[in-house]
Amino acid sequence: ATLHIKVDPVHPERKAIEEAALILRRGGLVAFPTETVYGLGANALDGRAVARIFEAKGRPSDNPIIVHVAVREQVSELTGSFPAAAKLLMDAFWPGPLTLVLPVAKKVPGEVTAGLSTVAVRMPDHPVALALIRTAGVPVAAPSANISGRPSPTSAEHVMHDLNGRIEAVLDGGPAGVGVESTVLDLTAQAPVVLRPGGITPEDLREVLGKVDVDPAAAAGFNKDDKPLSPGMKYIHYAPLAPLRLVLGKPEAVASKIKELACQEKARGRKVGILTFSDSDDFARCGEVVVAGCREKPETVAAVLYSALRRFNDLGVDIIFAEGLAEHGVGLAVMNRLKKAAGGHIINV
Ligand code: TXA
Ligand code: MG
Repeated sequence: ATLHIKVDPVHPERKAIEEAALILRRGGLVAFPTETVYGLGANALDGRAVARIFEAKGRPSDNPIIVHVAVREQVSELTGSFPAAAKLLMDAFWPGPLTLVLPVAKKVPGEVTAGLSTVAVRMPDHPVALALIRTAGVPVAAPSANISGRPSPTSAEHVMHDLNGRIEAVLDGGPAGVGVESTVLDLTAQAPVVLRPGGITPEDLREVLGKVDVDPAAAAGFNKDDKPLSPGMKYIHYAPLAPLRLVLGKPEAVASKIKELACQEKARGRKVGILTFSDSDDFARCGEVVVAGCREKPETVAAVLYSALRRFNDLGVDIIFAEGLAEHGVGLAVMNRLKKAAGGHIINV
């Protein structure tokens, strides 16, 4: 069984951190809180330990993993060179939800990079994560601590639900804060390009760098070369167990379309879930309603988005209708996750 180690999120107890760090040093897997979501950590310099992450999550082996550091010096052992832009960004946003893709150094095992010539690095802004990495004395490779394809975990309970018995331990430091993953920024391309929107917005990045591109697939939520309605798992991420339909358009039109579709499904005897960001719409007669934050404040939606998606699993719904929100600020990351959860099933009204 997996050790459940409670820890104070602000002043983590030494004993708890040392126990978890020892597991990492011995090649084991430890889940830990970060300011974005819970990560599933292994010693990044131990290829065999990193390989166990893929096994525990059921993660496709061609998907590389982010390496977490506690101090800047650790970046130098992971990457050969260090563009000036990287230093500016570290000064501005580290520790924090920004992952930088940089040229990889030879000593980083291929399991981490999936054989690429680059490595993704970030310094998380969480006392427990920082204490764990510092005490282990090694950089820590960590994807989100969920079964591959499912919503990322924002609590130790989510981690245990997915991975109990498959990993050595989870450090339980309470709920994660931001709620969606870090922004992944590639600094090895011609111009800096956002590969995954996240906690740091393109607007934030432009204030430091000037020009920053957003990968079109990241903005769309899926690769337009893939067939949007294909059942293939390739771009189905963050998905609840029931199919999710994302309804987009003007708020009033969206609300009435959701009511129409939800009532139709209900009449056919199906249990319907409705994901909304406003408690004013009267959806309750058509299905199980989950209100996830407030539409005008995207950071409140980000904070509870994944637990809302997991809530629909607990409710055992057959289908979910979700509204969207404006792609401003962290709203861009929220919409990216919702589009992926919908697997391309978007209804425009
Ligand atoms: O907030 C986060 O980033 C969380 C916490 C635990 O730090 N981690 C996380 O990891 O979300 P994961 O594995 O779920 O997502 C990592 C993302 C993937 O989209 C992966 O393809 C990308 O980073 N990535 C990793 N290494 C890369 C590389 N060398 N080049 C391009 N993309 C890379
Ligand atoms: Mg993930």
